Amino acid sequence: MDESAEKEAPQTLPHVVRLASLGEIAAEVAHELRNALQIISANAYLARLTPSDPQYLLKIERSARLAHGIVDDVMALARGEADGALAEPAPLSEILATARELLPDADYDDHVAGITARVQGGLCARLFHILYDNAIRAAVPARARIVTRATAHEGGSVTVEVSDDGPGVPPELRETLFEPLVTARPGGTGLGLALARRIAAAHEATIALVPGTNATFRIDFV
Ligand SMILES: Nc1ncnc2c1ncn2[C@@H]1O[C@H](COP(=O)(O)OP(=O)(O)OP(=O)(O)O)[C@@H](O)[C@H]1O
Ligand SMILES: [Mg+2]
Repeated sequence: MDESAEKEAPQTLPHVVRLASLGEIAAEVAHELRNALQIISANAYLARLTPSDPQYLLKIERSARLAHGIVDDVMALARGEADGALAEPAPLSEILATARELLPDADYDDHVAGITARVQGGLCARLFHILYDNAIRAAVPARARIVTRATAHEGGSVTVEVSDDGPGVPPELRETLFEPLVTARPGGTGLGLALARRIAAAHEATIALVPGTNATFRIDFV
């Protein structure tokens, strides 16, 4: 083989694959930052109108902190470090509370009391955030009603199901739902569920739409 050609080969196949997935991850980081940035802008505007009221500045501070956490968590995922943080069992109720920050209001009905999962809490909160975000957007103009149900199995594995009473996932999307750029929503980019699947995979968990349901997503944690 011609040695100089080999030296000049700009990128190996694994390098190209890695770059492609970094591109996807960069888009997913941007996707996750959108809500935080919107809230920061809205509250900066309100803070300017009422400078004596600290509540808007506190919201800006909180959203900026969450945005930092999102960048750190998703970049750790890109570096393949997410599984390093699986050691501690985290209460699902706390993860769900974080997942709901920065989202519009919805009616949540939770059945997760006392159940913990061995997960990286920040990333796992992103996964549920994505499911709630989709349920809330699908319900518009109605207010979403979202049920989250967890089951702990013998041996320590945990199943969580998230369902909503909205219109359901369009039938033509059911096979490809978790692929990047698959969307049926005006203004959607189709990155949410791709990131949800990446987060699940980093936990050696699986995520799927439950067959025969309108919009029930099931996550099986090991
Ligand atoms: N709970 C749900 N109810 C109805 N449809 C859903 C639900 N969750 C997902 N979908 C459908 O799956 C599609 C893909 O979802 P995904 O989160 O990957 O992308 P998106 O919401 O369209 O865009 P993005 O999240 O990138 O802004 C959505 O466009 C929607 O059609
Ligand atoms: Mg989405």
